[in-house]
Amino acid sequence: MHVEVIGRWLSNLPADDDHPYRTGPWRPNHVEYDATDLDVIGELPADLDGIYLRNSENPVYDAIGRYHPFDGDGMVHMIRFRDGRCEYRNRFVRTVGLAAEREAGHALWAGLMEPPARSLRADGWGARGRMKDASSTDIVVHAGRALTSFYQCGELYVLDPTTLETRGRETWGGRVPSAVGVSAHPKVDAHTGELLFLKFTTTSPYMHYGVADAANELVHYVAVPLPGPRLPHDMAFTEHYAILNDCPLFWEPDAIAKGVYAARFHPELPTRFAVIPRRGESSDVRWFEAAPTYVLHWINAYEDGDEIVLDGFFQRSPAPAPRRTGTPYERMFHYLAIDAMDARAHRWRFNLSTGTAKEEDLSDRVMEFGMINAQHGGRAYRYAYNMTGKPGWFLFDGVVKHDLQSGRETRYAFGDGVYGSETPMAPRPGATAEDDGYLLSFVTDMNADRSECFVFDAANIEDGPIARVRLPERISSGTHSCWAPANTLHP
Ligand SMILES: [Fe+2]
Repeated sequence: MHVEVIGRWLSNLPADDDHPYRTGPWRPNHVEYDATDLDVIGELPADLDGIYLRNSENPVYDAIGRYHPFDGDGMVHMIRFRDGRCEYRNRFVRTVGLAAEREAGHALWAGLMEPPARSLRADGWGARGRMKDASSTDIVVHAGRALTSFYQCGELYVLDPTTLETRGRETWGGRVPSAVGVSAHPKVDAHTGELLFLKFTTTSPYMHYGVADAANELVHYVAVPLPGPRLPHDMAFTEHYAILNDCPLFWEPDAIAKGVYAARFHPELPTRFAVIPRRGESSDVRWFEAAPTYVLHWINAYEDGDEIVLDGFFQRSPAPAPRRTGTPYERMFHYLAIDAMDARAHRWRFNLSTGTAKEEDLSDRVMEFGMINAQHGGRAYRYAYNMTGKPGWFLFDGVVKHDLQSGRETRYAFGDGVYGSETPMAPRPGATAEDDGYLLSFVTDMNADRSECFVFDAANIEDGPIARVRLPERISSGTHSCWAPANTLHP
């Protein structure tokens, strides 16, 4: 392995840190590397051609008050695969907020666990305001550029997808106001090259939906009015429609007026779904109602005759009861665990002719963070690749291939003390079968104190990785990832 250290960031995190999401498998990385000639166990497929990107919450400075795992600064990890070889790189997203804190030498903005009034700066980002836009939640590749995003809404940061150099921020010439920005989980339609996105705010009309075309022109931006402030996290699309949501878990308007942002679940309210033609106006939205829940992530959606089929993870416990055992930190963050949410793959069907909705569970297994072959995004599909979680923790202990046609589930378990990351699917060039390709997952191995990138044959994940690539350093767990085929890396 040839490793070049590109930068070292001076952190003021405590040496004896006991925060579970800044230590162990969540220990942040403060060194930026370029690595080539990486050691590979097994053999890399010669036809794996593209990049695997993963964002992560990677704090540099100690928090003002309590640290929430999603406050951390965005760090992107990248592996470029080509001709049976690969190279690795990691970089912080050079956000405006991180640059200001670096100059100050300490945190300037309070995170999610503290009221915005505790921030030292009066300005900031996010739906609630006075937060740092850490751009650490999600990453996609659109129009040849990597875009990182933030779950509380922020600016889309534009990165070169292979060098990871931060090139600036995308506001489409200011047409999407940057003070709030857009939500995490903009969606790329592999068939049209379009980027579909949402934003949410605490002021009326509370939600917007937009489309940038394959050439990155903002071609559509409309309000999707809601009855009040809501906390949508993800959206879905079909060939002709976008699907947004109004889940009954949200900040209370009365509390917001007092500067308190605490999410409360309302089981007396339905979950509402907005189905809008992809270039439709606000007045074109069709609303459907279903059982109350909160959905963090959708898996996919498609059209089936008069029906819109939407798959995602239904939480049976959107507001888990307080935990009474464990350390204060364990009690504070147990709700982040997939088992605490009790999330299961679920299917909604919205009939555009009758206006009715039907729904059913697709699995009894608790899982979340589903990935698909992106060529099937918005279209009929058969396979999802979902993560299972370590009970009580926001850590992924296995990946499940879920055959939605037969209901068959096959699982690969990473093993005790070994944690994977959201596992995207890389279709094999020229593939005809939906699962003809590879799965990619960065792995943090606490037993061996190292990280690897696992490459699975998507058709046979239970056989374990066909190749494992050693990384220069053990890397922190994180949230979202994507696969970008080589032919999408340049506009
Ligand atoms: Fe997410």
